[in-house]
Amino acid sequence: MTASLAQQFGSDVISIRQRFSDVRATTMRITRWLSPEDHMLQSMPDASPAKWHLAHTTWFFETFILQPHSPGYAPFDSRYKYLFNSYYKQLGSHPYRGSRGLLSRPSLNEVHAYRAHVDAALLKLLDHASPDVLELVELGLNHEQQHQELILTDIKHGLWSGPLRPDPLDGLRPNPAASRVTWMEIDGGIHRVGHEGAGFAFDNESPRHEVLLQPFRIASRPVTNAEYLEFMQDDGYRRPELWLSDGWDAICAQAWRAPLYWEQQEDGSWRQFALNGTFEVGMKLVNPAEPVCHISYYEADAYARWCGARLPSEEEWEVAAVRMPSHGTLLEDNVFHPQPARGEGSQQIFGDVWEWTASPYTAYPGFRPACGAVGEYNGKFMCNQLVLRGGSCVTPASHIRASYRNFFPPHARWQFSGLRLAR
Ligand SMILES: [Fe+2]
Repeated sequence: MTASLAQQFGSDVISIRQRFSDVRATTMRITRWLSPEDHMLQSMPDASPAKWHLAHTTWFFETFILQPHSPGYAPFDSRYKYLFNSYYKQLGSHPYRGSRGLLSRPSLNEVHAYRAHVDAALLKLLDHASPDVLELVELGLNHEQQHQELILTDIKHGLWSGPLRPDPLDGLRPNPAASRVTWMEIDGGIHRVGHEGAGFAFDNESPRHEVLLQPFRIASRPVTNAEYLEFMQDDGYRRPELWLSDGWDAICAQAWRAPLYWEQQEDGSWRQFALNGTFEVGMKLVNPAEPVCHISYYEADAYARWCGARLPSEEEWEVAAVRMPSHGTLLEDNVFHPQPARGEGSQQIFGDVWEWTASPYTAYPGFRPACGAVGEYNGKFMCNQLVLRGGSCVTPASHIRASYRNFFPPHARWQFSGLRLAR
């Protein structure tokens, strides 16, 4: 099962023209609530301003498709080639990532006009595009969907980082209780993982290959806030025997005592900063039934050790996901916050929270990146990062599948990241 969730759950296969328009419109929809000042926020080098995301996703279509494949295409502004390059060294230099928040110019209106210019040219090109160009358009759309998720994770961090304390948040849907966790038993032996079939996948999901797995058990849903609170109340953040060396150093240096965005009230209760389905942000009570979210790999690993379990490898996760293709909360649900697994023993694997795995992000046997600058997309990051699987409440449904490999360094917490246990 490597097709996207949209295909798995029966959505019509839509034309690339329609898909292009839909994806570009979704990016506009999830940024329309932001003021021009909000669009410039960059709270840390890892997070980028929404305005930069709007321009950079457009730059991707202009640079990799229109300029090489659309004869006579006139760039919107020749300076943007440098300005909105993220990290493609083969294309020349680019601004320092941490100074994207200095982009007061071009204005937001100019960036919107840049998008319209590229949209019109790209739609025109689609009338007579070759299969190779259509493949690049699909890559550009998947690239933009990755940035849709980043827009929401980055602005959440930016709005939380301001000096004014966030207001209480109303309007989140009431949560049902979480289902009881059950354990899926999977036989040991040779299994196959990686992308297969005709649907889109990134290069890092291939080649499909065999792996030898020992028999294992994997939880039916991610760890909840209630379960994580037990770890906190058992002094989990103060017991060095539970932590990797780098993790212990991180929690001491950063004074971490809870997931990112959690704050303890005077009465001992915990609140967390959240985004809701009507694009409001603020503090809400931590709901015990929701999956724990915004934790680092170090915290996920320490929690698993505390309860006598472990994180699954990415191969174990994928083999399990093929057997429980349950559809949780994704971007289209317009909730923008992880929701509890529902129903007794119900399975929850795609959506809600990305799940840290124990696997380092490395190349599959026989991996070959694409030729040229576009080959810098994934392969060059295969060092010092861990794989996360499953997508989150801000991942588009047509963008996630069992073979999808996300990756972040172990200290990262601003993504919608949680964990699932294995034994
Ligand atoms: Fe990008």
